[in-house]
Amino acid sequence: MYNSKIIGLGKYVPENVVSNDDLSSIMDTSDEWIRERTGIENRRHIKKGDGNSTAIMGYKASIIALKRANIQPKEIDLILFATLSPDYYFPGSGVILQELLNIEACPAMDIRNQCSGFIYALTTADQFIKTGMYKNILVVGSENHSGGLDMSSRGRGVSVIFGDGAGAAILSREENNKKGIQSSFIYSEGKYAKELSLIGPSTNRWVPEILDENDPEDISYFPYMNGQMVFKHAVVRFSEVIQEVLNKNKWSSEDIDLLIPHQANLRISQFIQKKFKLSENQVFNNIMKYGNTTAASIPIALSEAWEQGRINNGSKIVLAAFGSGFTWGSTSVVW
Ligand SMILES: CC(C)(COP(=O)(O)OP(=O)(O)OC[C@H]1O[C@@H](n2cnc3c(N)ncnc32)[C@H](O)[C@@H]1OP(=O)(O)O)[C@@H](O)C(=O)NCCC(=O)NCCS
Repeated sequence: MYNSKIIGLGKYVPENVVSNDDLSSIMDTSDEWIRERTGIENRRHIKKGDGNSTAIMGYKASIIALKRANIQPKEIDLILFATLSPDYYFPGSGVILQELLNIEACPAMDIRNQCSGFIYALTTADQFIKTGMYKNILVVGSENHSGGLDMSSRGRGVSVIFGDGAGAAILSREENNKKGIQSSFIYSEGKYAKELSLIGPSTNRWVPEILDENDPEDISYFPYMNGQMVFKHAVVRFSEVIQEVLNKNKWSSEDIDLLIPHQANLRISQFIQKKFKLSENQVFNNIMKYGNTTAASIPIALSEAWEQGRINNGSKIVLAAFGSGFTWGSTSVVW
């Protein structure tokens, strides 16, 4: 059995910086409210005409990751593309990325697990590598939230939180089982599906039905979030799944060189930091700059942490996520 090692990381965020004050000028919110509740100061939004899409941002992040991994696109055996905001309803963004990378025929799979999407994708990639079926796998998380948010005061509870961007990781076969991904846990609890969801347009609410009703009060095509319920479940599930991965590796909190939590909310990360008695240096946060980029948040953070020299040979890394579904998961990596 092989292990999977991350041999290259990349990130891309649109140039357009949207500050809390920018949002305050178009909806009833304030820098103080957003910072206090979420820790977010800025986020990036795709600008109409800047050429970005979910797949294109994924492509830009992938090119960097491939270069750092020193491999060519044609050496990729599988693409796993995690997103909740695909370019099209179908096909998935994975095949669009495959075409952008000019890879003739390799499997491309979309992973639909929202904020936990990258952990689900890593876990899936790891299994394909462990069995020996594939050698190099490109795992991407990319989100284009901004165009689909309710940017009026009505949508402020959701729209101030989310940002656009992409991150990519190249996983490759590793024969030393003390290196690379050590263990992963993934979970979901569908009874909470609607608590953080976007119902229409979907097969549950087809576009002709929405158009027929022509109801200006219809908000089914904007994301809905029961913020307090999400918060309550997130702190419990993050804690459980981090503890689980520590137990599995026989690691204590002190052994963690870097915990990279999905950037859901700075308050959630701070709660986890306190609960596991971790120092500031042991936890990576960049939600202040990018907001919550859902499936892209962990690969963006991982890439940025690596760029800042916070991940080195032998570093013990824990990744953890919670989000819509509800879904959650964790992965431990020895670099
Ligand atoms: C979203 C969240 C920040 C809201 O904070 P909260 O303290 O729960 O706020 P509430 O929803 O109870 O709203 C409190 C008040 O702020 C108002 N409010 C909501 N969004 C606002 C905004 N952007 N600006 C100003 N006021 C806002 C509400 O209307 C409400 O006003 P009221 O008391 O007059 O009715 C918080 O619930 C949260 O962080 N949840 C987890 C979200 C998360 O992590 N999501 C990603 C999961 S992957």
